[in-house]
Amino acid sequence: MMRFKNLSISGNLKKIIFSKLDNLFQSGAFINGPQINILEKNISKITKRKYAVAVGSGTAALILAVRLLNLKKGDEIILPCMSWISTANAVVLNGAKPVFADIQNDLNICTKSVEKLISKNVKAIIYVNFAGKMCDIDNLNKLSKKYKIPLIEDGSQSFGAKYKKIINGQNGLISAISLNPMKILGGIGESGIVLTNNKNYYNRLKIYRYSGMDRYGKCVYPSENFKIDTLQAIVINENLNHYKANILKRIKNANLVKSKLKNYLKFIDSKEKYKFDSYYVLIAMHPKRNLIIKEAKKKGIELKIHHYPLMSEMPFYKKNNFRKDIKNGYLISKKIFSIPFYEDLNNKNLLYVIETLKSILIKL
Ligand SMILES: Cc1ncc(COP(=O)(O)O)c(C=O)c1O
Repeated sequence: MMRFKNLSISGNLKKIIFSKLDNLFQSGAFINGPQINILEKNISKITKRKYAVAVGSGTAALILAVRLLNLKKGDEIILPCMSWISTANAVVLNGAKPVFADIQNDLNICTKSVEKLISKNVKAIIYVNFAGKMCDIDNLNKLSKKYKIPLIEDGSQSFGAKYKKIINGQNGLISAISLNPMKILGGIGESGIVLTNNKNYYNRLKIYRYSGMDRYGKCVYPSENFKIDTLQAIVINENLNHYKANILKRIKNANLVKSKLKNYLKFIDSKEKYKFDSYYVLIAMHPKRNLIIKEAKKKGIELKIHHYPLMSEMPFYKKNNFRKDIKNGYLISKKIFSIPFYEDLNNKNLLYVIETLKSILIKL
């Protein structure tokens, strides 16, 4: 079976990581190792943020980002209806209510829908740079200013993407990014990072990350243990040397797939020249997507759906009847699927994916 993505590590990269892990084993600094601080410095430099706090997952990063806002019962946060469920869970886990906004045809949050949903209870907007594509940052910033509502950026799926000169992780009051192995930049297990320019937030994040302990070893706020393992920091620091080249390889592969299948599938791309997509996934749209997925599986190709159903339609969220405006998202979510195109897919396999899909699509 040709998996949707190959997560194995081999060759030179494996050797480099092994030798670094050997040093870790000798030092025993599995927790709070110096590489964590290096990772935070590296990512704050890339994202032009003053402060970075690495944590144990992207979900933890989002939970802490929302926690910084000190929300009260009844407060609401607007977020897109389409994302990985952690985006909505982070709102509910902080005692607030999610309000689901619609998405545009590029699968990113629709600012018109956001504006319609704003009320006096709305205390923040979380936008997700979905599937390697930046949202309409200028419009979101304008809304944030107009209604004095802060933005939280979920940059988990778009490391390396750009909107004009703004890089994923740079905009909004706080950014949260997952660094799990599926991501454009990731480790070999769970990890994530929170980014901000606010020193007070930075100090609180460090306390929240470690069971609410301050630097004197006193608990000043009951919190989870959300620390990142040193091992993950080591691997991610190494992967920082490769992610840009990987994005370029993905773009090359994506362009080939798109050029060969453009007569049969609609691809989801940013149309604006000032956006640089980092191609977390390659998403196509077709009304008969379930049939395509089934037929591709028979021929040994794994096609994935990111993410179904919409967050607002997941049992917990549906049952609680949170406010929502999801018309376009609802229609689109039934048609999209992702095609294997990752950086280390060799030409032979990429061509097999293309030819197989073509043979399925031609018959529909
Ligand atoms: C948009 C988005 N937000 C949050 C997360 C959660 O990250 P993690 O899996 O590292 O907890 C993910 C991960 O899949 C994601 O894609």
